[in-house]
Formats: sequence, C-alpha cells, structure tokens
Amino acid sequence: MDATVLFDLSYGVYVVTTWDEGRAVGCIANSVMQITASPMTIAVSMNKDNYTYDCLKRADKFAISILAEQSKPRIIGAFGFKSAADPKVEKFAEVDQRLVNNLPAVADSCGVITCRLIDSHDCGTHTIFIGEVTGAERFSNATPMTYSYYHRVIKGKSPKNAPTYQPGK
Ligand SMILES: Cc1cc2nc3c(=O)[nH]c(=O)nc-3n(C[C@H](O)[C@H](O)[C@H](O)COP(=O)(O)O)c2cc1C
Repeated sequence: MDATVLFDLSYGVYVVTTWDEGRAVGCIANSVMQITASPMTIAVSMNKDNYTYDCLKRADKFAISILAEQSKPRIIGAFGFKSAADPKVEKFAEVDQRLVNNLPAVADSCGVITCRLIDSHDCGTHTIFIGEVTGAERFSNATPMTYSYYHRVIKGKSPKNAPTYQPGK
C-alpha cells in the first residue's frame, strides 16, 4: 500500500472552538467538511486525546474559523501544538478573538461558521462531531489556507493527534 496517496486528499486548515465553563478553548483541525445542504451540517473528526474533545463532549455548540494563507503562524502554534488540558494555557491570550453567536472565533481568519452540536459518531481514536450551522460570518476575502499549502509553503508538520498523521512523514 502506498499511504502517501492519502496526502493527495484535499482539506483546509481550521480552528474548532467552544466554551469550557466560560473559558474559550479549541484546536486546529484539517478534518472539517460540509455534510448536507438542507439542513446545513458540518462534521469534524476530533482525537479523543485532545482537550477540545472533552469540551465538545460537554458542549452544545461550536465554531469553525477558516484560516487564511496570511493568518499569523502563531495561531497554528497556539491551537495546533499546545493543549488547553494545561489550565495555564490560554490559547486566545496570543490570538485575537471575535465573538460570533456567543462563540469564540479567530479574528485573523477568512470567517467563522457557528454550529449547534446535533450528533457524534465514535470512530475509535477519533469521534466525528456533527453540527447544524446556526450562522456564518465573513471577516476577510483572503485566500483560504489549504492543508497542502500548510505543508508545502509553510512547511508545517502534522502532530500525532491529526487524523492524517503518518509516522515519519
Ligand atoms: C495542521 C494540523 C491539523 C490538525 N488536524 C486535526 C484534526 O483534524 N483533528 C484532531 O483531532 N486534531 C488535529 N490536529 C491536532 C490538534 O490541533 C492538537 O493536538 C492540539 O494541540 C490539541 O489541543 P487541545 O488539547 O487544547 O484540544 C491538527 C494539528 C495541526 C497542526
């Protein structure tokens, strides 16, 4: 099997956010996709070792901020390589926040989609969370960052908890 072919699947780079008892939390996810148009639903695959997973299990809503090619690299550093399981880690302390439909969103992004959590599916190491879209707001007309751009141009790595992770690649 040539598993590198899976790297040819296309994704964007997103920040999935929610509340943890009044604290804004979240993490980077590439595994976001629209599932249906009517009602409008979105799915995200979340690793059970991520603190965001624990928060989504308790949450009734979440938001997806769509990162742009020009979004500051420190957003990925904070949300993709640190864990809010450490109570001292406040990811939004270094990233500008915007409130949309009473959910925290990343201001330096193309925009945000807010969702009401309606379902989840256990997939072993990950759970797929499904949300019905409750709102969407555009922050800029910047070019959305693709996962391929993240790897090829930014030379970014995928940590172990990303569903697309392949050891040594
Ligand atoms: C480019 C990139 C893509 C990622 N995609 C996912 C993903 O789709 N699902 C996931 O569960 N984790 C993904 N991750 C990993 C989480 O963002 C990372 O484990 C984060 O530190 C978890 O933070 P938390 O413990 O505060 O939730 C990705 C990370 C990066 C850098």
